[in-house]
Amino acid sequence: MLQVKNVTRMFGPKAAVDNATFVIEKSAFVGIIGRSGAGKSTLLRMMNRLTDATSGEIVFQGLNVLGLQGAARRAWQGQCAMIFQQFNLVPRMDVASNVLHGILNRRSTLSTVMNLWPQADIVRALTILDRLGIAEQAPKRAEALSGGQQQRVAIARALMQDPQVILADEPIASLDPMNAQVVMDTLRRIHDEDGRMVIANLHTLDTARRYCDRVIGMRDGRIVFDGTPDLLTTAAARDIYGADDTFNEAATSTAIPAATAYAEALLA
Ligand SMILES: Nc1ncnc2c1ncn2[C@@H]1O[C@H](COP(=O)(O)OP(=O)(O)OP(=O)(O)O)[C@@H](O)[C@H]1O
Ligand SMILES: [Mg+2]
Repeated sequence: MLQVKNVTRMFGPKAAVDNATFVIEKSAFVGIIGRSGAGKSTLLRMMNRLTDATSGEIVFQGLNVLGLQGAARRAWQGQCAMIFQQFNLVPRMDVASNVLHGILNRRSTLSTVMNLWPQADIVRALTILDRLGIAEQAPKRAEALSGGQQQRVAIARALMQDPQVILADEPIASLDPMNAQVVMDTLRRIHDEDGRMVIANLHTLDTARRYCDRVIGMRDGRIVFDGTPDLLTTAAARDIYGADDTFNEAATSTAIPAATAYAEALLA
């Protein structure tokens, strides 16, 4: 169980996340939605300890995540793997090595530099790639793969850590619809088959409705919706994404995903 209690993150005078409180049961697949700047990434990054919270508590199965330092913090980061929109692979490195780097923090620098991996780890990496349907890509450079394949490599790298929690920050925002579906299906399968908690920031309502057991909606740092997808009515979506006057701003900024989501909300 993950408990987020009154978590706030200030950037100067502005609260990127404002007093967020919720509890996620172990088995949940949760989507976080909201327009650009709502605080979705900051929230995930605080869970993973990539960003410090200003106040509040995050507790995972009794462990006070925000209090962890040094090795304990790194161990927690191993337990909650992060997946990013831009995959964050090493482009010129082969796929198998990218996956093996998921367990980097357990290895000595020398063996990493020499690219010396224990046989058991290599077998495990290949098994995971096989499970995700991309075993044949193992020897190729990561940059030679399609976006959807690269994101599956990133998921494989995350699985290499054997994490209890997978945090995905807009995992499909850079993908075409076909690849987006494959990646979301993969995340859902990992959740269903392994019982891992998945929390994903998603930029379309449609994806949130289709894949999530529960959706958390953020607006201006605050949680303004928390419920099952069937409760995500047009009115609720409007509450999350904001009214017409703010839409123009989103449409003219670089925040295309938010604008798309808003348009979807209106069409829903
Ligand atoms: N390092 C930072 N320094 C200053 N302000 C920041 C920083 N990171 C985030 N912010 C601000 O915090 C707010 C929330 O940002 P965040 O990236 O969490 O939003 P988001 O919901 O993930 O948006 P997007 O959909 O565009 O990814 C924004 O106003 C943003 O400008
Ligand atoms: Mg973000």
